[in-house]
Amino acid sequence: MLTGHGGNFHYWASVLGCPPDEIIDMSSNVNPLGPMDGLVAWLRNRMEVIGALPEADASEVIRRFGGRYDIDPARVLVGNGTTQFIYALPGILHCRKVLIFGPTYSDYADAFRLSGAALVYRLASQEAGFCHCLDDLDAEERECDTVVICNPNNPTGNLIPRDALESFCRRNDQRTIVVDESYLPFSDAETTSTLLGSDLPNVIVLHSMSKIFRIPGLRIGFAISANPQIIRRFRQAQQPWCVNALAHEAACFLLDPQCPTDAFIAETRRFFDSEKRTMMEILSQENGLRAFPSATSFLLIHLPDGLSASSVVEDTVRTHRILLRDCGNFYGLDSRFVRVSLKTSEANRLVARWLCKLARGCLGR
Ligand SMILES: Cc1ncc(COP(=O)(O)O)c(C=O)c1O
Repeated sequence: MLTGHGGNFHYWASVLGCPPDEIIDMSSNVNPLGPMDGLVAWLRNRMEVIGALPEADASEVIRRFGGRYDIDPARVLVGNGTTQFIYALPGILHCRKVLIFGPTYSDYADAFRLSGAALVYRLASQEAGFCHCLDDLDAEERECDTVVICNPNNPTGNLIPRDALESFCRRNDQRTIVVDESYLPFSDAETTSTLLGSDLPNVIVLHSMSKIFRIPGLRIGFAISANPQIIRRFRQAQQPWCVNALAHEAACFLLDPQCPTDAFIAETRRFFDSEKRTMMEILSQENGLRAFPSATSFLLIHLPDGLSASSVVEDTVRTHRILLRDCGNFYGLDSRFVRVSLKTSEANRLVARWLCKLARGCLGR
C-alpha cells in the first residue's frame, strides 16, 4: 500500500500554498515529545558513518534490544521498520487464510492480499467501544492459519489484557498469531500487557521505534518470536543492510543502558494521560461526538450524523492548518470517523473545541 496512510501534509501544503512545516500533522501517530533529547545531536556527530556499510545483520542492535527487554537475542530480528516484516510475513508463513482483528491498520490486509491469501475479519463493534471479544473462533475463522491482532489497536486505541490474549494464543496453538505492539510503549500497561518475552511458539510480536521515539524516517522495527524455525525463515529471507548506518546509530543510542529512555517514556505517558483526560472532558460536552477510550497516543472520534470525516478534515486543515486523519478507508469503520493524534496541549484543545463547534453547527444548535 503506497497511499491511504496518514501524514499526507505535503499534499495539503501544496493545496494551501504554504510550507509543509506550517501544518500541524495530527494525522500521524508519532510522539510529539520526540525525538529524544540528544539523539539528533548524536546523529549529527556521527554523520561520517554514512561513508561505510553498516553491519549486514545489525547484530549490535539486536544484542542491545535483547539486553533492554531481557530477551534472548536469538529470538530477535530487526528490519527497515515493522513494515518490512508486515510485508515479509505472508511469504515466510505461507499463509492461505488470515483472520484480522479489525477495524485496524490496513497494511496487513494489503500485504496478505498481495500474496494471494484470503482474508477474514473479526470486527469489533462501535457499540462495544471497539473492545475485542476473544472467545472461540467460528467455523470460518477456524479455517485461518494466521491471526493478526494490533495491541493496542490502530485506530481504535483499544488494548487487550495479556491474560486474555495469552489464553487466546494457547487455545489457537495451531495458528500463527501476529501481535503488533507498535503503540504499546505509550501505555502504562506495557509491562503487564506485552507478549515480547512470551515463550509461546506460535506468537510473533512486532515492535516499532517509529512512533514512541518519533523517528519514522529512520525506519527501525523488530520482530520477536520464541520459535526458532520462524526466526530462521525470516533470517534466510532477509536482505543484508536492512538497517542503514544512521538508523543503526540511532537504535544503539536509544537502546544504550545509559540513555534515559525509561524517563522519556514515563514523561510521554504522563503527558498523554493528562492530554487524553482533557480531550475526553471537552469532547464529552458535545452529545453528537463520541471519543473512544484509548491506551495510546491518539483518539478515534465518531462524528454526528450530517458531518463527514472528509469535510471535517478539509475544514480543519483549511481553517487551522491542522491535519486530522479521515478514517473512512479503514475496513469496518465508516465515513464519520476521524482519528486525532495528540500533539501540543494547545493544538489538542483547539481541535477538541473546534470539533464540538462543528458538531453543534451540524446539529443546528
Ligand atoms: C499498527 C501499526 N503497525 C505498524 C506500523 C508501521 O510502523 P513502522 O514505521 O515501524 O514500519 C504502523 C504505522 O502506522 C501501524 O499503525
